[in-house]
Amino acid sequence: MKPVSIGIDLGTSGLKAIAVTAEGQSVAEASASYPLHTPRPGWTEQNPQDWIAAARAVLSELSGKLQEAAYEAIALGLSGQMHGATFLDAKAEVIRPALLWNDQRTAQACAEIEATVPRKELIQRTGNPAVTGFQLPKLVWLRQAEPENYARVAKLLLPKDYLGFVLTGRMATEPSDASGVGALNLAAQNWDTDIIAALGLSPAIFPEVIPSPAVSGKLSASWAKATGLPEGLAVIAGAGDNAGAAIGLGLSKARPTLGSMSLGTSGVLFIPLDKPTPEPQGRIHLFCHADGGYHFLGVTLSAAGSLQWYRDKLAPGVPFNDLMNEAGAVPVGSEGLVFMPYLAGERSPYLDPDLRGAWLGLSLAHGRAHLSRALLEGVALSLRDVLEVIAPLAKIEKLLAIGGGSRSDLWLSIVASALRLPMARTETEEGPARGAAILGLVGAGVYENVTKALEATAPQQAMLATQHLDMEEMYAHYKKGFAAVSGFKP
Ligand code: XUL
Repeated sequence: MKPVSIGIDLGTSGLKAIAVTAEGQSVAEASASYPLHTPRPGWTEQNPQDWIAAARAVLSELSGKLQEAAYEAIALGLSGQMHGATFLDAKAEVIRPALLWNDQRTAQACAEIEATVPRKELIQRTGNPAVTGFQLPKLVWLRQAEPENYARVAKLLLPKDYLGFVLTGRMATEPSDASGVGALNLAAQNWDTDIIAALGLSPAIFPEVIPSPAVSGKLSASWAKATGLPEGLAVIAGAGDNAGAAIGLGLSKARPTLGSMSLGTSGVLFIPLDKPTPEPQGRIHLFCHADGGYHFLGVTLSAAGSLQWYRDKLAPGVPFNDLMNEAGAVPVGSEGLVFMPYLAGERSPYLDPDLRGAWLGLSLAHGRAHLSRALLEGVALSLRDVLEVIAPLAKIEKLLAIGGGSRSDLWLSIVASALRLPMARTETEEGPARGAAILGLVGAGVYENVTKALEATAPQQAMLATQHLDMEEMYAHYKKGFAAVSGFKP
């Protein structure tokens, strides 16, 4: 039997598991989806029971595939959507549906947190201001909005940590996901009990923080029976999905010049760091990485999501390739048209849920091809806005490009030109599940530490994006566009 490590990604639309060899080669995968509920505009929830049902189905399927191919699972690493709140009572029963990372109901709770712990101090201690999506404001919201539910809360777990508890019976978290709660002291990589006490919350609500590659528990007999995986299998604490994806790409504090750029529904810049030095105004996130270091995370909310919206609403049925080809025929700068991609407000660097999108500068000379090209350019320039804030604080030399949007040569060259950084695709891209599996290899003792595991498993870099377009004039134009839309809030 050949050894493999399993990695799970408990995502927003579904759960995926993959199995990788000691060399990082992926040999099997399975996935299942579950619904996302929006009981009111701006609210997003999921039933933790749905995550568990998906995990059971996915792990059974994967285990069957592994048995057929004579692989033996030696560890199971966890990763998943960050920031979510799973409220548990004293019997570890789920109290209400979980609130997710993209839930926007907590503006008042954030104001309450910053009225108690001044924003500057919060940033110094936790790396970030109070952000609506984070977990801590969700607890403060529950206290005010649902006092009966709040009174029952004995433990508060992040989504992947809740799954870890169900698999093993042990409650734990690790620094990369815990730093997205909003109450982790970054330097200590442990809960900031001063902040928790100042807010009148009980520190016992938060689970123990253990290192990302540490064993958080053993797979229970009932889960072994239900899935066919070995009883007692080491379950590894793992990583939040962004840190997990970065581990999968080989990004670490050992090489802080190499980061990543993801063009998924949202656009994400991930830059590893060895010290917790926050951006003074907290305009980009600073979290713990899963290798013992730290990382900046800049998130623009509507990247490939803007293109999806545009295609579905304004060009229904038109293949993405056609839109890309049309856009490729329009000159850089879209003949004066500029797109602002704030369709769902913006996170980095503006932290403003009320910003809205626009095409500015429309004329009779513009057609659909211009709208398409301006959209690709606007998304790229929103990432440039994030980079402008990170660049003075980091030493970035190159970015690995991931996510569906970066498969387009045109879009990738527009982004590389807007960011003025060399950008390469990788030969394999498995996302957070791959990183969780690699952390599993460390937890199982195949590698001595995360840095060694990354040296052995980092994917090959493939094509280098061209950076031939001059986007500087366009960026100046975009800044003027920002001034216009930030003064217009419907
Ligand atoms: C990161 C963030 C998202 C979630 C979704 O801050 O909110 O990337 O982790 O998966």
